[in-house]
Amino acid sequence: MLIHTRHDPESTPAASEITPRGMYDGRRALLRQLAGGTAGAALATWAGRSALAADTALVTPPGKLAALPARRSAVTGAMTMEKVTDYADATTYNNFYEFGTDKSDPARYAATLKPRPWTVAVEGLVNKPRTFDLDELLKLSPQEERIYRLRCVEGWSMVIPWVGYSLAELIKRVEPQGSAKYVEFVTLADKARMPGVGSRVLDWPYTEGLRLDEAMHPLTLLAFGMYGEVLPNQNGAPVRLVVPWKYGFKSAKSIVKIRFTDKEPGTAWNKAAKNEYGFYSNVNPDVDHPRWSQATERRIGEGGLFAKRRKTLPFNGYEAQVGQLYAGMDLKKFF
Ligand code: MTE
Repeated sequence: MLIHTRHDPESTPAASEITPRGMYDGRRALLRQLAGGTAGAALATWAGRSALAADTALVTPPGKLAALPARRSAVTGAMTMEKVTDYADATTYNNFYEFGTDKSDPARYAATLKPRPWTVAVEGLVNKPRTFDLDELLKLSPQEERIYRLRCVEGWSMVIPWVGYSLAELIKRVEPQGSAKYVEFVTLADKARMPGVGSRVLDWPYTEGLRLDEAMHPLTLLAFGMYGEVLPNQNGAPVRLVVPWKYGFKSAKSIVKIRFTDKEPGTAWNKAAKNEYGFYSNVNPDVDHPRWSQATERRIGEGGLFAKRRKTLPFNGYEAQVGQLYAGMDLKKFF
């Protein structure tokens, strides 16, 4: 996410590229095992449960934060079997401008965030507006693990095992009115807890938006954790959005308000540079960013700086699930 300067977003090496690989080989081995079915078979017999792995997280928690148990998601498309990004990379190579614009700033400075106590106000064009305490939100629906690719507009991607539930579960509870067409997400902007909010790099608070049908899509995740634990501060604790078919900046972190509207809401990056960041921001290899191509991407942790780039897929590979949301739309115009 760059506005004024043009520095190479690929230039900062990821943690796994500069630290020994042993740290994440264990998790990879576990995933290979799961893909091969050995662990799955063991689980099937475990305690004679018929619902296979219904409440079993797939990824070994790194043991750094509080555990957030989850069951395997049954949502179509929610469980890519691609290699999961190393936890060290996913937590040290971040965009969270409230803590600075460098990829390493959020890990360095986000300790001041204080994700508890926390509330999320849900308001606007709904019959049942309500402010949820974090614990109420956590219990609203069973936590699921979903392994999603996330493609950043800057040209890199990660595969992260998120923990959360479909945003639709929350939306149904507040009963949107017929006139509600969009959902706005407002995130925390507290100078005392977020050193970057003192800078003028963005118009705070960071906001994002979705069309109501996008927000209701089962893949749209309200996330509270990753890698079997609560979210680290730098990844958007205690609650964030993950919209896997859109560029990463749509996935708003540290949400404090969700507002239903009849008009397309402004969004942080759209306000900062209208011609570069559209409202939809669906991952689209055919629509270049004005300053760089979107045709390929670098998977973080994959073979260092000299790794071959991968082809970026339309809708980040989720076209079968979400393509129909945009039937008949000119996606070059509505980028
Ligand atoms: N949310 C807030 N509040 N502030 C931000 O700067 N950055 C976005 C998004 N959500 C951002 C945010 C961008 S550009 C990306 S790519 C993703 O968060 C990165 O999420 P990750 O650091 O967990 O990979």
